[in-house]
Amino acid sequence: MITRIVRVNPENLEICEIYAVAKSIKEGGLVAFPTETVYGLGADALNPSAVKKVFKVKGRPKDDPLIVHIADMNEIYKLSREIPAEAEVLMKTFWPGPLTLVLKKSNIVPDITTAGLDTVAIRMPKNEIALTLIKLAETPIAAPSANLFGKPSPTSADHVILDLFGRIDFIIDAGETHIGVESTVVDVTTIPPMILRPGGVSLEDLEAVIGRIKLHPAIRAKGKKVVAKSPGMKYKHYAPEAKVILVEGSPEKIERKIISIIKKFKRGGMTVGVITRQKIFYPDADIVKYFNDCHAIAKNLFKTFREFDALGLNIIVAEGVEESGLGLAIMNRLRKASYKIVRA
Ligand code: TXA
Ligand code: MG
Repeated sequence: MITRIVRVNPENLEICEIYAVAKSIKEGGLVAFPTETVYGLGADALNPSAVKKVFKVKGRPKDDPLIVHIADMNEIYKLSREIPAEAEVLMKTFWPGPLTLVLKKSNIVPDITTAGLDTVAIRMPKNEIALTLIKLAETPIAAPSANLFGKPSPTSADHVILDLFGRIDFIIDAGETHIGVESTVVDVTTIPPMILRPGGVSLEDLEAVIGRIKLHPAIRAKGKKVVAKSPGMKYKHYAPEAKVILVEGSPEKIERKIISIIKKFKRGGMTVGVITRQKIFYPDADIVKYFNDCHAIAKNLFKTFREFDALGLNIIVAEGVEESGLGLAIMNRLRKASYKIVRA
């Protein structure tokens, strides 16, 4: 299959560049496009055979539903049959933006899009290219992250090309995404609403707007048995080939612990990469990536996993961050990726 790559400048978008891509969606094609979080692999959300291809191409389990992307808030009234007051407040506050709302679905949404659930996940992305594509396609676009199942989500078109070139119709290349971790998924069918996946909109921001909100227990858990509410929760995600060791604790203790972990694996003949927030050189490590705040970590985490894998590293030692703001999403992704969590 021929995959066409369309390079666009996000600062100076020419609508005509998107026409052919939108036409492909209308015709049941598969298209990778940028959002503010990660790249999505899009298909017409209302076309069951197009959506079926998304699952097939990604190798995604059929019981893991997709997010439906819209370009106009009013679309929600067609896709959902019941919109609680909290949902209205949340969408008016955070859309367009990295927030996905789980709502009761309407009949027009095919079962395959929602993996047979009675609910549908909807979001309006904050990205001109994505919004233009949805508008020109004249249909909501169902899109999971545009990676192969089990790989880190793509934060640049290069990642999409590595995973999906030759398997889909178009890839829109608009460089790196801004946020780097996926949207926050909130189930608004329950009272109080519940965060099923932490992401680009923080728990604190949501609380400030609607007051009480619960965190699904699986979010802070690693490997513990908790009943999955979001089907995606039960699958191991974001895992690079290298073994990830997550080190949590106070900054001074973390430094000493990381030094001893590096030494131990190096003695065993392994290669080690480090992801840190502290300007520490770690001379024994093969490579050290330093990011000075949570925004930088979120933006670069999946990219760094892919870079370290390309180097063939055996071990990735990642420093834990405080679980506030974007830190909650970062720690959730790190825990899911890690094979071991160490307290310093
Ligand atoms: O930022 C994002 O959300 C990106 C961009 C492309 O929009 N998309 C994304 O999609 O991360 P995906 O498919 O990788 O993750 C969607 C998550 C999964 O954990 C899935 O289980 C959950 O949303 N989800 C989708 N529909 C759901 C539903 N009806 N009920 C509960 N969880 C749902
Ligand atoms: Mg994904």
